[in-house]
Amino acid sequence: MPGAIYAEGLVKTFGDVRALDGVDLDVPEGTVLGMLGPNGAGKTTAVRVLTTLLQPDRGKAVVAGIDVLAHPDKVRRSIGLSGQFAAVDEYLTGRENLIMVGQLYQMSGRDAKRRAAELLERFHLGDAADRTAKTYSGGMRRRLDLAAALVVSPPVMFMDEPTTGLDPRNRQGLWDVIQELVAGGTTLLLTTQYLEEADRLAHDICVVDHGKVIARGTSDQLKARTGGERVEVVVHAPEHLTVADEVLRGFGKGEGTVEPHTRKLTIPVTGGAKLLAEVIRELDLRGVEIDDIGLRRPTLDDVFISLTGHAAETADGDGNGAGAADAGPGDGGSVGKQKKRGKAGAAADTPDADVTTDKEGVK
Ligand SMILES: Nc1ncnc2c1ncn2[C@@H]1O[C@H](COP(=O)(O)OP(=O)(O)OP(=O)(O)O)[C@@H](O)[C@H]1O
Ligand SMILES: [Mg+2]
Repeated sequence: MPGAIYAEGLVKTFGDVRALDGVDLDVPEGTVLGMLGPNGAGKTTAVRVLTTLLQPDRGKAVVAGIDVLAHPDKVRRSIGLSGQFAAVDEYLTGRENLIMVGQLYQMSGRDAKRRAAELLERFHLGDAADRTAKTYSGGMRRRLDLAAALVVSPPVMFMDEPTTGLDPRNRQGLWDVIQELVAGGTTLLLTTQYLEEADRLAHDICVVDHGKVIARGTSDQLKARTGGERVEVVVHAPEHLTVADEVLRGFGKGEGTVEPHTRKLTIPVTGGAKLLAEVIRELDLRGVEIDDIGLRRPTLDDVFISLTGHAAETADGDGNGAGAADAGPGDGGSVGKQKKRGKAGAAADTPDADVTTDKEGVK
């Protein structure tokens, strides 16, 4: 049985841009799918198709058990959407915006007011609640828009880059809200450029590039694909660096690095925590005093870069290297593609802006 969000073979072209090039998705009920991908990958297009805002050229989508193409009205009643660009009424106050949404969803006036007050509090908008939204800062608008998406708790939610532009406290606040929603059974598709966010919230992750899903799995599965587990040690005294280096080489599976100024040594390994224990024992036996030691696994950032930044080099023949064939070699090719595809909105009109955005996105 398909999940709460299901898509098969979605295709959407704009002129000669294939924004979606055969996207399949299946998000089980009560779970979070994190959709990652570089600028212009097709994330927003996918969200717009799934939320009935855009007709695909081909393919099938079912949301909350309802066929999106056949019954868009019914789908709209079962979903919540927070778009990439906040959609609030500038001339209404924060509170009025939220009450209006409640009333659109046929809540009683009393319930709508109560819910609005709760959400204003929750998103730290209490003080600004009775000012018109046009006086809000960017982050405040963003939060109001998110609050609006949560007025009713729909069974299926879509959030397109929900925390872009939020400060750390508000980002954390939103993560808490999302976790509560999902614990209550909501299914969520979330796009994000913050990989830590996907790591924290998503049960499953799909990486999209050039309108195709190029990899999917849990965060752990994707990291395992990238490989590259390593031991990092910080020794207490610089004179221990040489001995520590010898010890690590004995366990390593490749070239290590030594940074004298931070007294840090790193070496690729396989063998996980068991091996780490052996390294600690051996260092201890050799009289090396340790300030810090740990097994560092690849981060989602590493995964993202290896999948989208070097697509042509990492095509690994398992069917996930899609898009590699038309990609240029290495970084340069990828950046070139970014420039060409560009971004529909502001801020990315110059090639430099695009590249910067990409880099920031994968920090
Ligand atoms: N209405 C449109 N008209 C023409 N081209 C469009 C339109 N909407 C999207 N595109 C193009 O489709 C491609 C995918 O865009 P989309 O907005 O889905 O990307 P995205 O993954 O959401 O990117 P970002 O991370 O920048 O938000 C881009 O090349 C974009 O320029
Ligand atoms: Mg987008």
